[in-house]
Amino acid sequence: MKQKLLRILTLLAAFAMVAAACGSDSGGDATDDSSSSDTASTDEGSTDEGSTDEGSTDEGSTDEGDGDAMAAGEVEVFSWWTGGGEAAGLDAMIGVFAETDPDIEFVNSAVAGGAGTNARAVLASRLQAGDPPDSWQGHAGQELIGTYVAADQIEALNFLYDEEGWLEVMPETLIPLISKDGDIYSVPVNIHRSNVLWANPTVLADAGIEIPDTLDGFIAAMETLKSGGMDAPLAMGEQWTSLHLFETIMLASMGPDDWNGLWDGSVAWDSAAVTKGLEDYATVLSYTNADASTLSWQDAGQLVLDGHSAFNIMGDWAEGFYRELGMEPQVDFTWAAVPGTEGTFQFLSDSFVLAKDAPHRDAAIAWLRVAGSNQGQDAFNPVKGSIPARNDADRSLYGEYLLSAMDDWASNTVVGSLTHGVVANDSWKSEIDTAVGLFLVDGNVEGLQTGLAAAAAANS
Ligand code: GAL
Repeated sequence: MKQKLLRILTLLAAFAMVAAACGSDSGGDATDDSSSSDTASTDEGSTDEGSTDEGSTDEGSTDEGDGDAMAAGEVEVFSWWTGGGEAAGLDAMIGVFAETDPDIEFVNSAVAGGAGTNARAVLASRLQAGDPPDSWQGHAGQELIGTYVAADQIEALNFLYDEEGWLEVMPETLIPLISKDGDIYSVPVNIHRSNVLWANPTVLADAGIEIPDTLDGFIAAMETLKSGGMDAPLAMGEQWTSLHLFETIMLASMGPDDWNGLWDGSVAWDSAAVTKGLEDYATVLSYTNADASTLSWQDAGQLVLDGHSAFNIMGDWAEGFYRELGMEPQVDFTWAAVPGTEGTFQFLSDSFVLAKDAPHRDAAIAWLRVAGSNQGQDAFNPVKGSIPARNDADRSLYGEYLLSAMDDWASNTVVGSLTHGVVANDSWKSEIDTAVGLFLVDGNVEGLQTGLAAAAAANS
């Protein structure tokens, strides 16, 4: 930290000297130049899915002396959108920002790893060290309120909502999830759906299977595929994707009211309904691939495209990923609500926050204005595989899947995602994750239920 501070001070002093030598007018031009070259270099980093150390993007900009020298004209934005449709969506929004704020350099500090598993660890240590990015991606709901707001790490944004008229265009259901005591703490850029079943239409047609719409039908379809020689009818990836599967199967088994009850305390974690849900989860898991822990969510999605598996349960960022690969809806892939959850939209929302004491507060506010704008959201979401948080999207920009998601969002029963921050704060979620991780190894339903009940008792 000290070293970094020293370095920044040295660079600032050097910049002051250069600025004095060049005269004040040269600043704008220099910012423009460094902005375009840095954007190109961060773009490369951001599409490099293999890289796990996207901190290098951050380091890259620190190493390039003139990036830091232009401190007043830059904004550091932190996310985990480094691959597939995710990076492409972010790039599209950065493109809008480059038009609205050409003098601000966008420093893309994305850290690779689905669902932010790596990124959030990096973010946590930066926050602890008092070295926050200006703005970061955080999920609406308990992740935001029970983690960053609770720790006093972000600024309230009511002034921006007033200035931009966002209360008129953001869903009423979302505002309470990003607010505490009347203060609004983030700018939602999208709505994602977590309870989506992705399927390979050719594999299903060849096996004479219709997309199942009940949990029993799903298990029967997977049994048919398995006895027909398919090793793993359901593709799964690393651990967070099994937590993702957990939340959707629990929803299918318990229904939306009981799912909600788990989080407001009205349904006990040691109840029979939970036991049944966990047994269903265990059954569904028995149809997944043995190498799941070594695969990313994209790898698991690819198994479906390749026909190695018939199904994958994943959020609708999978749609952005498939389209980015050039896959055609209804030909290369198809979708439905996770069997047993038709009529329920299990949602999450990516939102951007403003760090308390943000190093580049004005630039961060300029970024947030774009993130909350119609133009920014309509550039980002059609590529990302999500629908805009705003309710005034231009529907003509969205493909078949996303149009169906917009309609479902408007008409379904809406419940929150666990894996992606809505229903539980970080501490509760991490205890659930530990219990599920143990279960993946020992398969002990009773042990899992005990662990989940203990997690609830400690956190709710
Ligand atoms: C979620 C995030 C999505 C997508 C997904 C996979 O947590 O909200 O936008 O990035 O992880 O990485």
